[in-house]
Order: sequence, then C-alpha cells, then structure tokens
Amino acid sequence: MFLTSLKTGVFEKTQQTFDDTSMTQQMELSLKRLPDPELRSLAIEAIEDRRTRLGLSRTKTESISKRFGNLARLTRDASRGRQLFEQNCQLCHRFKAVGADVGPDLDSLNDRSGLALLTAILNPNEAIEQTYIAHELLLNDGVEWTVLITHETPSDLHVTMTSGEKRFIDKAQVRSIKASSQSLMPEGWGEAMSDQDLADLIGYLQTR
Ligand code: HEC
Repeated sequence: MFLTSLKTGVFEKTQQTFDDTSMTQQMELSLKRLPDPELRSLAIEAIEDRRTRLGLSRTKTESISKRFGNLARLTRDASRGRQLFEQNCQLCHRFKAVGADVGPDLDSLNDRSGLALLTAILNPNEAIEQTYIAHELLLNDGVEWTVLITHETPSDLHVTMTSGEKRFIDKAQVRSIKASSQSLMPEGWGEAMSDQDLADLIGYLQTR
C-alpha cells in the first residue's frame, strides 16, 4: 500500500508531514535495497515514477547533459586536470595510486565516459553508496564530527574523518549518531568550476 501510494502520489496528499520534498536519498536507498526481490522491484519502480512525476531526476539529468554538450567541444588538457585533481579531489580519492581513501579508488572506476564522470562530479548524491554515507557523531563533550563508519566492535567505532584521518572512538563517548542523507563528496564542487576546468579534470581521469 505504501509503495502504491508513493507511485501515484496519494501518499503525499494524505500525509501532511510527508510532502514532495520529504523523501530523502537515504529513504530511497533503503527502499531500493529491500531484501524481498518482489518488493524491491516495486520500490524501484515506485521511486522512478515518483521522481518523474515530480520532475526530480529529469531536470538534473537534463542540465548535466546540457552542460556536457558544452564541454564536450573543449580540448581536454590532462596535465591541467591533474593539478585540479591534486587541489580538489586528492584529499578524498586515490588515482594512479596517489591520494586518500575517504572516497572510492578512482583507478577502479568502470565507466570512464565523459558523461558518467561529469554526473559523478556534479551530482554526487545521485549515486551515493551505502558504504559512503556520512554519519554525524555527537560526542559527550559536545564535539560534532562528520565521519564514515568503516567498522564497528562492541566497544568502538572505527571511523574515517573527512580529512582522511582514521580514528577509534570509544562508544561510551558518543551521545548520538545520525546518518546523513548527503554524500561525503561535496555537492558544490562542479558548480564552482568552469567548463574548461571540468573538461581538463575529465581528461585527466580518462588517462590510465
Ligand atoms: C570530501 C571528500 C571528497 C572530495 C573532496 C571529492 N570526492 Fe568524489 N567522492 C567522495 C565519496 C565519499 C564518494 C562516494 C559516494 C558518492 O558517490 O557520493 C565519491 C564519488 C566520486 C566518484 C564516483 C566514484 C564511483 O565509484 O562511482 C567520482 C568519479 C568522484 N567522486 C570524483 C571526484 C572528483 C573529480 C573530485 C574533485 C573535483 C572529487 N570527487 C572530490 C568523496 C569526495
């Protein structure tokens, strides 16, 4: 019933607290990973229908392919791209065996097409993977941290900080943990870069 009402939009109309914007990436992800295969495919379909109905995915995808159309015409200077990578990306990603492992290793990217790379850069929250969901920790002394939880033992959390630093945190020190709906990869990167910057960066990521 929930999935059907999500698909048709009845849900948004009847639940005042659940409006068109209330569906977080996190919720979508959980639904798309339902263990029951039948429910899972229903969920994926319902989410797609909802996104189309609300014009959510289309606008973003359209604007990304439009931007790609602009920058596909530019020459890609891989050595400039390398500098941009060192300045903006290396603190989280490893590529050609240099860099940190906060985000995925870009040596093992499957799809290196310009459009796929641009989408990953401009719209990091679109394809966020469970392993990379940031968590906000509030500690007893009031300190707040945004981290990736890499491992958990009965007494400790093993986390990676946004700086790439790894730490063990005693669970007794943690007041609360909140899963963020955002990717750790900052959303605004691509917006702040020129078409030429993005073209060069993509050129660099396409060199092997
Ligand atoms: C603060 C850390 C951080 C920075 C800085 C960062 N990223 Fe990411 N990036 C991530 C994380 C975490 C993911 C995986 C989760 C996701 O897809 O959102 C990711 C995903 C990606 C992916 C998709 C990888 C895959 O396996 O599908 C690409 C490509 C990428 N980033 C490129 C870049 C580029 C290029 C830059 C620099 C302009 C950059 N990132 C800067 C953290 C970062």
